[in-house]
Amino acid sequence: MNGHLVAVPAAPVNLADLRAAARRRLDPAHDDFFAGGAGDERTVRDNEAAFDSYRVLPRVLRGIGARDLRTTLFGATMSMPVLVSPTAFHRLAHPDGEVGCARATAAAGTIMVVSMAATTPVEAIAAAAASTTLWFQLYPQPDLAFTESVIRRAEAAGCAALVVTVDSPVFGRRERDLRHGFLDLPDGLRCENMRDPETGEIRPITMDASLDWQRIEWLRGITRLPVVLKGILHPADAVLAVDHGVDAILVSNHGGRQLDGVPASLDTLPAVVDAVAGRLPVLLDGGVRRGTDVLTALALGATAVGVGRPALWGLAADGETGVRQVLELLRSDLDRAMALAGVARPADVTPDLIRPAVRR
Ligand code: FNR
Repeated sequence: MNGHLVAVPAAPVNLADLRAAARRRLDPAHDDFFAGGAGDERTVRDNEAAFDSYRVLPRVLRGIGARDLRTTLFGATMSMPVLVSPTAFHRLAHPDGEVGCARATAAAGTIMVVSMAATTPVEAIAAAAASTTLWFQLYPQPDLAFTESVIRRAEAAGCAALVVTVDSPVFGRRERDLRHGFLDLPDGLRCENMRDPETGEIRPITMDASLDWQRIEWLRGITRLPVVLKGILHPADAVLAVDHGVDAILVSNHGGRQLDGVPASLDTLPAVVDAVAGRLPVLLDGGVRRGTDVLTALALGATAVGVGRPALWGLAADGETGVRQVLELLRSDLDRAMALAGVARPADVTPDLIRPAVRR
């Protein structure tokens, strides 16, 4: 030590640090595309704030020893109850793109849900991270033959589940993007999984307002992959999902990007869990930023949670390395939260471990 201060960039200590690093690196229009939501962004704000309305009530002296965060879904084991939710356009965040995210997710031993709006072909993502459990997210297209061709590609690439996003009969109105005039991908980036098998051309993603439960049955009939319905908020829809034989529900409001003014995902979770009554795993995404957030979602009945924006922040901040940091920060934060709350395994997180925050 020579007494001089050396400017060593501090390693990020939490997800907010990575979010700040991402903001410094991103073009403001792209930062706003990732950060933004629909309308007044009430739901975006609510997603994070909802976690702040709970507190943890720890148990002590339980002799829990080392924690085991492993979680099983569809017969596969993930290293922790945290997966990467599908987000569009990873190569807009960083040249490592979806491949970097998949490698980081594989290294973390968890699942990446590949977006239908990925900027890398699913085959290339799968090849880069063979050990990752990839799931594939689908917006069912009005052209059934094309929809089926996309599913066949995802299956052939080894994706282990199909995540069908059902909260998007039309696009949400994202005012930040309108202000920037950010309406399309820059030159050189394309939705590579929308390539027409006949013509080789990239099709635009169509949001289909005629989508109904019959189409879910059709999907169930053409693939053996487990089907996860993403974007369920109403308990009546959760019951219909069970009735139509889906394999899991992902409680989500699309990170507040579709209908502004819907409740925080966390606030809709208990009624969905009640309605499902243990018949299916219930997952949740929206606003998860801390180990205690994961703990809270588990206490309210989720089997696992997804993170959307945090993976994009990691990617934008430092490519594959940044996504690894995001996942390892969440893992260590959850592990510590569980230790301090007196639980050794995700399945041991019981509802009595959380309570409403007292407002003063
Ligand atoms: C998304 N999300 C999303 N969902 C989906 O089913 N298909 C998609 O292509 C995308 N794309 C997408 C892009 C961006 C920039 C964001 C922020 C989100 C929604 C995503 O899967 C997830 O539901 C939310 O991001 C979860 O909320 P948090 O973790 O971002 O708060």
